[in-house]
Amino acid sequence: MSILPELENRFRSALAALEVDPEPLLGMIRRSQDPKFGDYQANFAMPLGKQLGKPPRDVACEVVANLNVDGFCEAPEVAGPGFINLRIRNDWIVDQLTSAFADERLGVPAAAEPRTYVVDFSAPNVAKPMHVGHIRSTSIGDALSRTLRFAGHKVITDNHIGDWGTQFGMIIYGYRHFCDTEAYRSDSVRELARLYRLVRQLMDYHDGKAKLESMARKLTEAEERLEEAVSTTEGQKLDKKAKKLVSKLRKDVEEGQEELAALRGKIAEINESPVLSKLAAEHPNISQSVLQETAKLHANDGENLRLWREFLPPCLDVLEETYRRLGVSFDHTLGESFYHDRLAAIVDELVEQGVARESDGAICVFFEGHEVPMLIRKKDGAFLYATTDLATLRYRMQEWAPDAVLYVVDFRQSMHFEHLFTAARLMGMADTELKHISFGTVLGTDGKPFKTRAGDAVGLESLLDEAVARAAKVVEENDEAKPGGPELSPEQRARIAETVGIAALKYADLSQNRESDYVFSYDKMLAMNGNTATYMQYAYARVRSIFAKGEVDVEALRASRPRVYLDTPAERALALELLRFGEAIDFCLKDYRPNLLTSYLFDLANCYSTFFENCPVLKAETSELRQSRLVLCDLTARTIRKGLELLGINVVEKM
Ligand code: ARG
Repeated sequence: MSILPELENRFRSALAALEVDPEPLLGMIRRSQDPKFGDYQANFAMPLGKQLGKPPRDVACEVVANLNVDGFCEAPEVAGPGFINLRIRNDWIVDQLTSAFADERLGVPAAAEPRTYVVDFSAPNVAKPMHVGHIRSTSIGDALSRTLRFAGHKVITDNHIGDWGTQFGMIIYGYRHFCDTEAYRSDSVRELARLYRLVRQLMDYHDGKAKLESMARKLTEAEERLEEAVSTTEGQKLDKKAKKLVSKLRKDVEEGQEELAALRGKIAEINESPVLSKLAAEHPNISQSVLQETAKLHANDGENLRLWREFLPPCLDVLEETYRRLGVSFDHTLGESFYHDRLAAIVDELVEQGVARESDGAICVFFEGHEVPMLIRKKDGAFLYATTDLATLRYRMQEWAPDAVLYVVDFRQSMHFEHLFTAARLMGMADTELKHISFGTVLGTDGKPFKTRAGDAVGLESLLDEAVARAAKVVEENDEAKPGGPELSPEQRARIAETVGIAALKYADLSQNRESDYVFSYDKMLAMNGNTATYMQYAYARVRSIFAKGEVDVEALRASRPRVYLDTPAERALALELLRFGEAIDFCLKDYRPNLLTSYLFDLANCYSTFFENCPVLKAETSELRQSRLVLCDLTARTIRKGLELLGINVVEKM
């Protein structure tokens, strides 16, 4: 049984007697910041007092008079202006802990009303190498899927890969004109990635040259605006509004300068290379040609379709290899190409329903209060990303009838999803929870999006390799420093390093508020101290080592159903924290935030440290106490392992 839901139930009944809506008030029952105020605190007396027109303290006393927490909490106390302080009874904690100890699910109840979720995550565009941004969608989506499943829901994971977009027009064009046949034969995916980059470079060059002048003009204008604002306000004390304006203008100028510099850099790169500039001169219309190749593919042109069928499987194999390393799998991989034949029908359906209409030759969905419509068919008949997403949603509803569809995608697509969800409601999918699980950018130490020196996004594979290489160092140093000398064979070290390295990368991502940007740092993510996977894995291995050292037979311990004693504050605090696992899962799933689970695990590991420093386990005063403390150790290890498993992270028995 989880504590918070149980408290909420008890308060729900108590509040019913006052004839108020309990739901908004129940959210104000929280853990106490200070043990002085008990374990939990109900802080709703103020708003409730206002609602009832009575002093908050009186209201709190009235609630307490109606509150039945017998056998669960000590007598509630009303403090100060009306805080209700609750202390959980030790015998209740012991009972719960004893049943959690005997339970595979560690005492976490399965959802009373299971829902069906479709989770759309990872979704890279194939034929382009995966990069650092993909770690976020992949880790967060996988963690949420695992946690939802553990919570008792039905989860269908679907990798909506981009396997039908312009990048195929690009590699088809690249293959026809620039392919190194030898390289293609020995490693086709690598050669395709090279062709993709080369075509991208040439397109950027020509498009960039066409844009250069207007960009430079815009920058000059921005500079002039800034200069004017500065000179007209010179010597004056600026009010807030004026200051804001100047700093906005300054930002515009800086951004313009950066953009222009980046563009010039790209152009210079081609100009400085005789080989590349020759290619650029020979392919002046590359951008249009690429669009034509894509359009031909979409029109089922035989030759382009054949090439697409040839390119796709090796690209998918490479993807699969990355997922294997990451320990991520999907129930379905229905990419954009799967919906190709359904696009015309979905547009017709929307037009028939009156949701979409023609405008200037194109078909759009217009939204009240929104300036920009959602374009679903271009004038030339081409369909768009949004069209595919509508067809995908229609298919998912028909196939799986989900209660919720979660899209774990970069914040830059917020507008797209807002449109998609509004359109879906207009199409009659009002009862389904549609949610964009948005996330921020991975930054380099300079605070800008994490890029290689050449300015490309950092490739995912090289990221994994580097994390594992650095983890190997950590594992080696740790092993060498052991008081009794190193314990691990080279093979063991290598295996541990792979687990620790990948875990560090995932955990660093998951432990952030997903909506914030975060700075990527190998040193931080592999630190032995702090809220890192390495610390959590180490904590786990340390608990396990007690069992090895004491030659404790865990099965026998579990079978003997030992009594648990909570006589010291450290034992009690650890026990209470162990019972909060279910609560942490609830919090995590409420707004789909894995960082609430990582911070719970971190708190748990810290409680365990305090316990371990204060309470001898193998050398406990009595054998009964030893058994009791071993129960706490075992539950800690199992909770950490389960918690990490829900995050998609493996533990190691030794480190
Ligand atoms: N392939 C897309 C991209 O890389 C992400 C797809 C996300 N899922 C979706 N149903 N739109 O931007």
